[in-house]
Amino acid sequence: MGTLALTAAAVLIGFCFVRDRTSGRVYSERTSLAGQTIIVTGANSGIGFEASKELALRGATVVLACRNRDAGASAKRRIDSALNARKRGAERGRVLLEMLDLTDKKSIEKFAENFRNLNFPLNALVLNASIGMHPTRALVNSKLELCFTSNVLGHYYLVELLWDKIVEDHTRIITVTSSLHKYVSLEVDPATLKKRLPDLQCELSYRPKEAYAKSKLANILLAHHWARQLSGISNTRAMSVSMHPGLVMTPLLTRYLPFWKKHLFNLILILLGKTAWKGCQTVIYCCSHPIENGKYYGNCEEEEPSPESRDEDAMQALSESCRELLNAF
Ligand SMILES: NC(=O)c1ccc[n+]([C@@H]2O[C@H](COP(=O)([O-])OP(=O)(O)OC[C@H]3O[C@@H](n4cnc5c(N)ncnc54)[C@H](OP(=O)(O)O)[C@@H]3O)[C@@H](O)[C@H]2O)c1
Repeated sequence: MGTLALTAAAVLIGFCFVRDRTSGRVYSERTSLAGQTIIVTGANSGIGFEASKELALRGATVVLACRNRDAGASAKRRIDSALNARKRGAERGRVLLEMLDLTDKKSIEKFAENFRNLNFPLNALVLNASIGMHPTRALVNSKLELCFTSNVLGHYYLVELLWDKIVEDHTRIITVTSSLHKYVSLEVDPATLKKRLPDLQCELSYRPKEAYAKSKLANILLAHHWARQLSGISNTRAMSVSMHPGLVMTPLLTRYLPFWKKHLFNLILILLGKTAWKGCQTVIYCCSHPIENGKYYGNCEEEEPSPESRDEDAMQALSESCRELLNAF
């Protein structure tokens, strides 16, 4: 029995080692990001943390946009010590911590104001923060559904507040989404006969996976919407792209699961998922590599999102809804 358990453990470890070596591409080009400033939302955990560290190690000034001061300070300390451990003369950026809660309108306004006061250029804005599958339909300000507000509306507002800077500084807006967006279908609005995202606020029904997947399709629709707006402005090289990291070992998808489901899912993540460092590689690619406005990336190359995410009526309807919802925010 003991030998069997040891063999099983050895096979599992060997499998994970091989899988880690073979799963997901690493962006190995050593492009220097010295002199660049990059904001990363949700920078204290998972993909956002690893991306911030890697960007700073490549020379960028990274603004860690976090909602929890202690978690943000701990992330900053860990990145600072990685930077300090670099050899003398090696590329070394820096990290700053700024508070940002995407479910709080005032916090977003304060963040945008503080960032402007730094007088730094904005080279890239990584819209990474997200909550995963919240078990129940929770509300912000007793009005707005939580998943949609944190993942979509908060980022929409942040982009709106920084828009003139984005245009002037030729910023890359990089929206982190998920291939789960492919599970959502658009519906036809009976009034206009145009397509739109169904039940934005999950008022008719709430299922955790559906709410999350819908927010991720909304992320791509908005990324495309900004791409179209930017392409219509002369004299800017600002662009907007979206990207997915693949299946990654972070707390995002398991945080709200009951005990046994959490452990089962974590086991699946260990067997099939990437490390957070591997998961952040496409973020680094999008910040560093020549990329194209409006495209969707995965595994450090261009990929095809769902046809729904390209629907122009749905893009327009979503941006109008976000505009209206800001009044209730
Ligand atoms: N993990 C995957 O398999 C996977 C797959 C596809 C796509 N993605 C995408 O990858 C991105 C990063 O996810 P992850 O896996 O790295 O998850 P994670 O480790 O849970 O990180 C999520 C981050 O978002 C922050 N956040 C949540 N709500 C916020 C709010 N209201 N205001 C500000 N920050 C907030 C969290 O802060 P706290 O620590 O304070 O909660 C955390 O820093 C997400 O956009 C996700 O949709 C992940």
